[in-house]
Amino acid sequence: MNINIKTEAIAELQADVLAWPITSELQFADELKRVQGDQLSELVQTGEAKGKVAELTILHSPPTESIRRHYLVGVGDVLDANSIFKAAGQAVCAAVKRGAKRLAIHLSDESLVRPAIEGALYGSYQNAAYKKSDDVRALDELILCGSITGASEQSGEITGQAVNLTRELVNMPANDLGPQEFAERAEAEGKAAGLEVEVLDEDALQKLGAGAHLAVGQGSARPPRLVCLSYAPDNAGDDHLCLVGKGITFDTGGLSLKPAKSMETMKYDMAGAATMLGAITAIGRLRPALRVSCVLAMAENMPGSRATRPGDIVRAMNGQTIEVLNTDAEGRLVLADALTYAARHVDATHLIDAATLTGAVSVALGNIHVALLSNNESLADRVRSSGLAIGERFWPLPMDEDYLAPMRGEQSDLRNISGNRNAGTITAAKFLEQFTDDTPWAHLDIAGTGWLEKPLPHAPRGASGMAVRSLVRVAEEWSS
Ligand code: BES
Ligand code: ZN
Ligand code: ZN
Repeated sequence: MNINIKTEAIAELQADVLAWPITSELQFADELKRVQGDQLSELVQTGEAKGKVAELTILHSPPTESIRRHYLVGVGDVLDANSIFKAAGQAVCAAVKRGAKRLAIHLSDESLVRPAIEGALYGSYQNAAYKKSDDVRALDELILCGSITGASEQSGEITGQAVNLTRELVNMPANDLGPQEFAERAEAEGKAAGLEVEVLDEDALQKLGAGAHLAVGQGSARPPRLVCLSYAPDNAGDDHLCLVGKGITFDTGGLSLKPAKSMETMKYDMAGAATMLGAITAIGRLRPALRVSCVLAMAENMPGSRATRPGDIVRAMNGQTIEVLNTDAEGRLVLADALTYAARHVDATHLIDAATLTGAVSVALGNIHVALLSNNESLADRVRSSGLAIGERFWPLPMDEDYLAPMRGEQSDLRNISGNRNAGTITAAKFLEQFTDDTPWAHLDIAGTGWLEKPLPHAPRGASGMAVRSLVRVAEEWSS
């Protein structure tokens, strides 16, 4: 799916659809009033157009030679990076559904170009890789017009495509995306983005002493992998950010087997790794002045005959022993070794991990906020403020030492569960913290936000791509 993106003067426009973002103030651009004035006044008078978020009004005036249809797309009270992202996505979804091939979007400000392109590409994504191609409609051309130059077209396209890469991988069924297939794809995508890539197989993990990671993968016939990607520009300073991702390509729970219903969507348990891969491929192309690496921990959590048993004690890469009392708390095990690897072997000065780590995060925050847990306020602030600027929300949870107590082991240094359901997202994060070597670190629990249970006006059901754009922005803001 390749959409040609360009900027054009409105006078020269040839399009199936021209979409106009409309705020609740219902101020219409002069160019729109000139061609559609009467109809606009009527829509306002009858209350049909209010400019509310996700309100789409198709103007039914006779098509002209240059523009077949005008859409009004409500953005609510403010037109900003967040609202234009959604509106552009919704316009694309609506236009594609009606067979449009050339969609134009009117923008009143240069700062809207990048989020509009990101949103349009977001809206163009269809979870259709497994459908007959003649059932799939797509846009050929996206045209931006209005008071803009189009200078930030390219960055919008890079980030928009990175988010869709993440979504594509997360939506892939686990029969086609196991640890090895995921690692191969990560290698190919990394190299295409100009990154250095290293793939570690089971033997390499054994040599590194990655006992926690290996324990998760050993119940599956498909062995685990660790993938490291690196972006090291000449103009970088001393800081080195490492993005670490949970890449469980399928989570059955292992011998602590999940019920059938809870397992249905568990192909998305690699969303953390897919998020970090998407982010670093965009970073490799945008080339900010910051060293960024990425460590992806891939494994399939299966209850095979070699599977880790509840009560088994394993030794993590940093030497700590862990009693695995619940094999379904596997994300923290693979991340334990991945974080140690990032802190010790990648020499990162800052760590951010993303993981579909706990069901408890949905209880706490629903599918609205990503949980943000950190040992370093300024790093957490970077994530939060980058998210805020584009409409991805991160909410901090406390990290008091008291939360670790129930995971201290009797027979081992740690246990992988706390023994009750209280504060599950926090206890999981406290566990991870034990493997960070006191490096500034932030943990993003995307279990609630990484998957859309229902379609949105700008997205189908499935992978959401949440946090990719925020993380790209963290790297950009860091270096600027
Ligand atoms: N992958 C799950 C977390 C999850 C649950 C993600 C629901 C998305 C939706 C994780 O590996 C898991 O099973 N966590 C357990 C931890 C528990 C055993 C302490 C959970 O949340 O129930
Ligand atoms: Zn699990
Ligand atoms: Zn899991």
